[in-house]
Amino acid sequence: MCGIVAYIGPKDASPFLLEGLQRLEYRGYDSAGVAVVAPATKSAPAKLRVCKAKGRVADLAAALPARFKGTAGIGHTRWATHGVPSDANAHPHTDNEGRIAVVHNGIVENADELRAKLAADGAVFRSETDTEVLAHLIAAHRADGGGLEEAVRAALKLVVGTYGIAVLDAEQPDRIVVARNGSPIVLGIGEKEMFAASDVSALVRYTRQVVHLEDGELATVRADGFRTFTEDARTVTRKPSTVDWEVGSYDTGGYAHFLLKEIHEQPGAVERTLSGRLNERFATAHLGGLNLDARELREIRRVKILGCGSAYYAGEMGAQLIEELARIPAHSEPASEFRYRNPVIEADTLYVAVSQSGETYDTLAAVQEVKRKGGRVLGVVNTVGSAIARECDGGLYLHAGPEISVASTKAFTSTVVAFALLALHFGRIHDLSPADGRRIVAGLKALPDQIRKVLEQQQEIEALAAEYAHSRGMMFIGRVRGYPVAREGAQKLKEISYVHAEAYPASELKHGPLALISPELPTVALVPDDELLDKNLTALGEIKAREGRVLAVAHRPVEAKLADHCLVVPKSEPELDPLLLNIPLQLLAYHAAVALGRDVDKPRNLAKSVTVE
Ligand code: G6P
Repeated sequence: MCGIVAYIGPKDASPFLLEGLQRLEYRGYDSAGVAVVAPATKSAPAKLRVCKAKGRVADLAAALPARFKGTAGIGHTRWATHGVPSDANAHPHTDNEGRIAVVHNGIVENADELRAKLAADGAVFRSETDTEVLAHLIAAHRADGGGLEEAVRAALKLVVGTYGIAVLDAEQPDRIVVARNGSPIVLGIGEKEMFAASDVSALVRYTRQVVHLEDGELATVRADGFRTFTEDARTVTRKPSTVDWEVGSYDTGGYAHFLLKEIHEQPGAVERTLSGRLNERFATAHLGGLNLDARELREIRRVKILGCGSAYYAGEMGAQLIEELARIPAHSEPASEFRYRNPVIEADTLYVAVSQSGETYDTLAAVQEVKRKGGRVLGVVNTVGSAIARECDGGLYLHAGPEISVASTKAFTSTVVAFALLALHFGRIHDLSPADGRRIVAGLKALPDQIRKVLEQQQEIEALAAEYAHSRGMMFIGRVRGYPVAREGAQKLKEISYVHAEAYPASELKHGPLALISPELPTVALVPDDELLDKNLTALGEIKAREGRVLAVAHRPVEAKLADHCLVVPKSEPELDPLLLNIPLQLLAYHAAVALGRDVDKPRNLAKSVTVE
């Protein structure tokens, strides 16, 4: 979703702005724009120049005039919320005089009210966006006489909503003012130059020293440094931290797409999620960041997991793991629903928020709702220092590395591994025996190599994907542990290939969806070698009897009369099997999307980080 970049220093800002915006493309957007302050000449004062274009960053680069130069600049990728994607609605937005330029992530909730007042005072609006209100509002306060900082502070006091903003002023070209409230802003510290962005991925090529602003904070950024302060003008000291994500993580590294690269990165991602966390001596997991002692953990009677999209499905696998290993009732719910149903928060329930980005607004709002009512929340998050991670009382970082492709793969797998660690830890302070603990520890250690084995089947899966991709739709079925796998498999297929996909518990087939079964609607069936094997095979028989085609994902070959094709994956411990059964479904979705010529890493209508409601 929307992205922000900013540069101030001795160099020309435009190349960084364009490259930074390209780095943010993965988040999803529909238009882009940049503004720079062109330096004063003998005959003319410093002047703001703005260039915006609907479409890709490449379209913006093509539209950029040759002499679009300035040593201070801001840029934006927009994902439309107020008003259609268009050149006019793209950011930056400016005031009447074209002196103040603003880029904004988030939503100004009282934009209509502010717009009416500003228009009455002579502001001329040229877009349908809520953001344009900010440009006029800041300009109005700038006219009061104070500097840019004061004008931004005064303007933001009148704003209801969420924002991450960067503001440029042609009359103070030595600074950029940024502010954060609910939408991230990170400062990047360079050598006699400074950067800012909504996401570190835009910065890592230039600096590893970053400062994350907190909600309610602003910063004045100059070429030689920065000053952070609060909305009531109190100076705050923020120490820089070092980003440990590799620059290479932001390149496709020879793969055709980020998605394929990230699928193949899963063995390493799982190793990092596990690293230093397995305690073989006591057959448990060592989780330093939970901030809960054994007594507090033993008092937990229930676990509620909250996340959106794939994070929610990973949470379903997590809930299953916690119930099985720790025998604590656990349930996963979409954070987007939870926050709106006035949930009952219980003192002996542990809430766990799941988010790759740590920015998903619905998940953040759910965490805040739990905390407002006195609940305790752990975070299972990939992005260090992200909003959700900071809002939680403790948790586990995934250390999966940056995930660029919109569809989640390695973060999904690492999330489930993190839940396996959590379940093991809970289990061992409840009734999980040392023998079972050892069994899970060994199972987890074996996962990376087993994932590598699944990935070796890529060619076979590619051929199957080419065959199934042209189906009218696909059904995914699984039972108990297999059902969240089916749900995530269907999600992956629909989001990147746009093939309609439905997931059902295999046990529910005859209660409805069997009516859909025909040769045109194939079924992907999860058939693990566990206590439900016979029941799963019976379901396949029911499908075959209706001339449905079946692709089984199983631990041993399924006989030809029950499945047209079978992908055999290595067997783990039964509780961990869902992790491995999911991997072929990622490849299936990927190759189906490629076969259909889809924009795999940036599927239509979707964004990587959904930072609005
Ligand atoms: C968006 C993405 C999904 C993702 C979800 C949650 O909807 O398109 O792929 O699963 O957000 O993202 P998070 O960063 O919170 O895990």
